[in-house]
Amino acid sequence: MPTPPELQGRHIVLGLSGGVACYKAAELTRELVRAGATVQVVMTDAALQFITVATMQALSGRAVFTSQWDTREPNAMPHINLSRQADAILVAPASADFIAQLAQGRAGELLALLCLARPIETCPLLLAPAMNREMWAHPATQRNVAQVLADGAMLLGPAAGDQACGEVGDGRMLEAGELRDALVAFFQPKRLAGRSVLVTAGPTFEAIDPVRGISNHSSGKMGFAIARAAAEAGARVTLVAGPVHLPTPAGVRRIDVQSAQQMADAVLSLAPAHGFFVATAAVADWRPLQAAGQKIKKDGSGQAPTLALAENPDILAAVARLPEGQRPWCVGFAAESEHIVEHARAKRLRKGVPLIVANHGPSTFGQDHNALVLVDAAGETPLPRADKLTLARALVAEMARRAPEVTR
Ligand code: CTP
Repeated sequence: MPTPPELQGRHIVLGLSGGVACYKAAELTRELVRAGATVQVVMTDAALQFITVATMQALSGRAVFTSQWDTREPNAMPHINLSRQADAILVAPASADFIAQLAQGRAGELLALLCLARPIETCPLLLAPAMNREMWAHPATQRNVAQVLADGAMLLGPAAGDQACGEVGDGRMLEAGELRDALVAFFQPKRLAGRSVLVTAGPTFEAIDPVRGISNHSSGKMGFAIARAAAEAGARVTLVAGPVHLPTPAGVRRIDVQSAQQMADAVLSLAPAHGFFVATAAVADWRPLQAAGQKIKKDGSGQAPTLALAENPDILAAVARLPEGQRPWCVGFAAESEHIVEHARAKRLRKGVPLIVANHGPSTFGQDHNALVLVDAAGETPLPRADKLTLARALVAEMARRAPEVTR
């Protein structure tokens, strides 16, 4: 099942000011168009030194605007028309000089002019700065950035890393995919603004000896999708992840752990500071009673060693038992192989949580799609088969709707 285009119906004015990062704007245009947006490119004179109108026109599929004196518009007012049609203006790259122009309310070129002329309440302005680290750190730039933020613009990045000039530091423009995701996140409803969500994800790894252990096939994808969806909804998110190789969602604080005990220690110290707890981790039920200090060797007898196991702490149940005032609103997951809803109902009561999300374990581990059933005291709500991010957003909406009393 293909992921629905996330920017379908959105009209984005993509502004380019001068900088080497203009090369990334080509890829960004492709990403935005692929995500369903219509993209109207506007370039400054300086941007034209770095990338051509032909490239940007071919990628966006629309004539590019470069001048406020462009007479193609019947009323000869491209600065008014372009900003009235836009759902958002994204300037990527936003150079130091361009941010300085915005800070002063200057309007000498079409891009700055249309930013100034935009309806400030309905047309958001997002800036992706790109410049040398010294330029970014300069007090003049920082002063200008503070001013444009105070005037209602939003900043995407910059990131730290290698720069075209050969230096390393803050000022790199975000990558095209990161900017697309930031725009997608920007348009999500802020259902969890001011709230905080703690998520566990992935498997745990229980060491047998220094080279072997007990684990499972959980990919962590559902938990990472929930962390991303909660962050998109405006929450402060902490993700406690078992051993998985997934990128950390933007804006999410990640804590990596290995064993169930490490996960339990991390979660129990963090839980009282969070409004919601979502336990998606496939926590190993048992661990070797004692991990061997050295690799266990075959002794030649043909006999396999016997592993004594101890039960791991139930993290979700422990959080659900925290005293009132320290206890987040808890969501558990139940990966079952049969009688999904019946097992989920029993599990909800056993763990003492308001909501359990049931799914068919064997058919979801590692997959990009899933189907869920939400089980609470009132009954069952199915969330039909979809990609995990779509399901995660739906779950976040259900959490916000069911727990309006959660204020932190
Ligand atoms: N869970 C947990 N700590 C554990 C075991 C499970 O926090 N030690 C959480 C999971 O993250 C999930 C929920 O409890 O949200 C249910 O996990 P599941 O493995 O389905 O249930 P179990 O309690 O292990 O029960 P069973 O294996 O008997 O189905």
